[in-house]
Amino acid sequence: MPHAHDLPINPHLLNLPRYIRGKSIQEVRDALGVSEIIKLGSNENLFGPSPKALQALRDAAAEAHYYPGVEAHDLREQLAAHLGHDLTANNIIVGNGSADVLRAVAQTFVFDRVENIIQMPAFQMYEILTDMYGGRSVVLKQTHNYAYDLDEICAHVTPRTRLLFFNNPNNPTGLYVNHAALTGFLDRLPPHVIVVLDEAYADFAEADDFPGALEYVREGRNVIATRTFSKLYGLAGVRVGYGIARHDIIDALLRTQTAFHVGTLPLLAASAALTDHEHVQRALQVNHDGKAYLYHEFDALGLEYLPTEANFIMLVNLPFPVTRIEHAMHKHGVIIRPCDPFGLPDALRITIAPPEINQRMIRALRQVLAELEKE
Ligand SMILES: Cc1ncc(COP(=O)(O)O)c(C=O)c1O
Repeated sequence: MPHAHDLPINPHLLNLPRYIRGKSIQEVRDALGVSEIIKLGSNENLFGPSPKALQALRDAAAEAHYYPGVEAHDLREQLAAHLGHDLTANNIIVGNGSADVLRAVAQTFVFDRVENIIQMPAFQMYEILTDMYGGRSVVLKQTHNYAYDLDEICAHVTPRTRLLFFNNPNNPTGLYVNHAALTGFLDRLPPHVIVVLDEAYADFAEADDFPGALEYVREGRNVIATRTFSKLYGLAGVRVGYGIARHDIIDALLRTQTAFHVGTLPLLAASAALTDHEHVQRALQVNHDGKAYLYHEFDALGLEYLPTEANFIMLVNLPFPVTRIEHAMHKHGVIIRPCDPFGLPDALRITIAPPEINQRMIRALRQVLAELEKE
């Protein structure tokens, strides 16, 4: 029986940090035998996908024996028109989720032991992808108030720096860097640094001074923005995301894609979702109202949280250890997300959902806190 160590495996793949994803419904059901489970641990959109996207999936399923044809190019054109800012299809790459676009970015730009800067708390894939392509992750600590420390990032830029991963609004904190601060920061970076602006949650941002990456792309900066259909558009299981950048950058990223890279079903579902403005507006309203409701309830429970521009809220300085709260919530059929994989062992992240689900979560949380108080 051959062993892994006998195989000529790319050494970069051998010691990758593990991606710790949120618990699935199946896992909690199997472990605890709880039947009715709500999942608020992975920032999915519990309002669900657009009926138009579901219809597109059904229609496309009947043609599943064909390879994709022009659909990827069509979606790139549609996205360019949707985004405005004088973008064209040549400014867009479509991938199997934005995580796949991030992979394309790492595969394109990370080689020869370059350094990528990651400031915690951060999406785990940044470090994994850096290692995967033989780069070195320069992992900086978060500031005491959970915010990005832009001076600290600038201080760590060296001639070897290649990518700088930046997530706005940030997962898991929900905090954002405003337009003036981000523009000033980009102005300070030397021209050899490429900023990966992960905007997975930017669709939910409500602050007037929230900076969209598109203006930076149009200005011709070294910025690659990544966005997704997994969050606002409720298509996390379908896997479609996209990247936005200058033509020369997109041309380079496209070289990493395999034949027929994204399937026809995801491409057509994303295309249909993009046209369903009414559904999108309702999903945004659900998030807006849910945020206000949860702030109110967390205040009533005496829990501390960070203000969010995303579809989740992070609780901090909890009165009980995070693992105990998580486990007790599982018994009540509610999955939430401990933030230790993001470098914050004392924080919990909860997805904002439609009203009845939020209410059920709050009822469970109230009970759990009372139970833990008694123990
Ligand atoms: C910050 C951030 N970036 C990227 C992703 C990847 O999303 P997807 O690959 O579904 O587009 C996620 C997923 O949760 C995320 O939280």
